[in-house]
Parts: sequence; structure tokens; C-alpha cells
Amino acid sequence: MSGSIVVLTGAGISKESGLSTFRDADGIWATVKIEDVATPQAFVRDEARVHGFYNARRRALLDPAVQPNDAHVALAILESNWQGGEVTIVTQNVDDLHERAGSQNIRHIHGELLKARCMACGILPELRGDLSPTSKCPACDGRGSLRPHIVWFGEMPLYMEEVHDKIAACSLFVSIGTSGNVHPAAGFVEIARAAGARTVELNLEPSAGASAFAEKRYGKATELVPVFVAELLGVA
Ligand code: APR
Repeated sequence: MSGSIVVLTGAGISKESGLSTFRDADGIWATVKIEDVATPQAFVRDEARVHGFYNARRRALLDPAVQPNDAHVALAILESNWQGGEVTIVTQNVDDLHERAGSQNIRHIHGELLKARCMACGILPELRGDLSPTSKCPACDGRGSLRPHIVWFGEMPLYMEEVHDKIAACSLFVSIGTSGNVHPAAGFVEIARAAGARTVELNLEPSAGASAFAEKRYGKATELVPVFVAELLGVA
């Protein structure tokens, strides 16, 4: 097989690194409501609570125990060894585990936990500490103008036009560790199918969009992804 590859990842690929998913029984949305912490309205209503939610997730991500797992590493190996064309990771995840595993061609369509966004001047400063309603922008000195660089429900995900074009041109679309509940990501497989791409779902269990995939393998990402990458690279 040759041609470009687009890999969509979700929270499931980071689960075995120790980060929570959203919709599993022990997921984030089992303990806190989306409308309380992950919408623009929540941020207007109770900014300190929203900062607190993301500050806690940022601290959890920065725990030294949280490291990229074999699935993240396998995708970095695919990117650096695939001769058939470009490999792009389109991730719904806001963690930096793909980067830390060595992947470089990544689009974080739901934002990044380790960046802030200034609502006054628009810069995206690196962020490894806590944000608060009085945090100052390092560029424009705007006080209280920083928000998490996270795409909230009701906001437009990032890189949508570029991602659409990459999926419409790819030969292989692989979805890993996502429940297929959130659009537009949940609809990416339809774009790939319409383009005649090979479509593969690698997940712990069938996602909401499972029927749209031509191939499906179920199990843990750290078991499925290295095997799948080895097959693609002809080293299985
Ligand atoms: N290996 C593979 N898949 C796994 C594993 C694992 N070890 N553990 C869990 N999964 C699967 C679950 O079965 C589930 O289908 O990962 C998926 C996680 O689904 P969600 O929790 O819904 O996460 P995700 O699909 O990434 O959510 C999409 O929703 O809340 C928003 O913005 C948030 O980006 C997120 C978006």
C-alpha cells in the first residue's frame, strides 16, 4: 500500500499512559458536567471553576508518571519510516504525548492543555503552571485575558479545512481510541470512505461510528497499534 495516511486519535490512546478518557465509566464526564467546565458560557459564568478544572488536568499531565505509551511510540515510528507519503496525526487529545513520543506532524483540533490563549492579543504562550482570572498575558500584559487553549463545546475545532483536505486525499484513515461521539471528528471516516481510502478502527470496543469502518480491531491501543504499524511497514 502507498499514499498518505491520516490517523485520528482520541482519549483512549492516552488511557494506558494514566490519563482519563471522557465517556468511560471512570471518565471525566462521569464526575463533572460539560456545561459546568467546557463551554464558553461556563467560562463567563464561573471563570475560576473552569481554570480549576484545566489546572487539575494540566497538573495530572505533567505528573512524571504520565509518559507516552507503546501506541504513541508506534505512530511516531510510522511517521518516520512510512515511504508512501505523508503521515498526519489528527488528535482530539489536548495532551502532548504524541509530541513526546516523537511524532511531529500533528494537528490538535481540540486545542492543547500546555498552551494558554490570550483573548486580547491572540498569542498562544506555553503554559505549565496554573491559570487564574488574574493571570497576565506575557505579551500584551493584559490582565485576566488568558484562557485555556482548549476548544470548548459550541466552538469551532481547529485546522478543519486542512484536516478535511488531508483526509480527502489519504489512502488510509485509521481511528484510534475514540468513541465517535463528537463531531466533526466523528464524521471524518465518511470523508475518507467517499475518497476511497482504506478505513480502520482500532479501539477497546466498537465506537458509535464502527459501522462506517471497513476494518475493525478491538483491544488495547498498546497491543493493537504496534502490530498494525508493523504490518504497514512490512516488518510484522
Ligand atoms: N485502548 C484503546 N481504546 C481505549 C482504551 C485503550 N486502552 N481505553 C478506552 N478506550 C476507548 C473507549 O472504549 C472509548 O471508545 O477510547 C474511547 C474514548 O472515548 P471518549 O472518552 O469519548 O473520548 P474521545 O472519543 O476522545 O472524546 C472526544 O469529546 O469530551 C470531548 O473534547 C473532548 O476530545 C474529546 C472528545
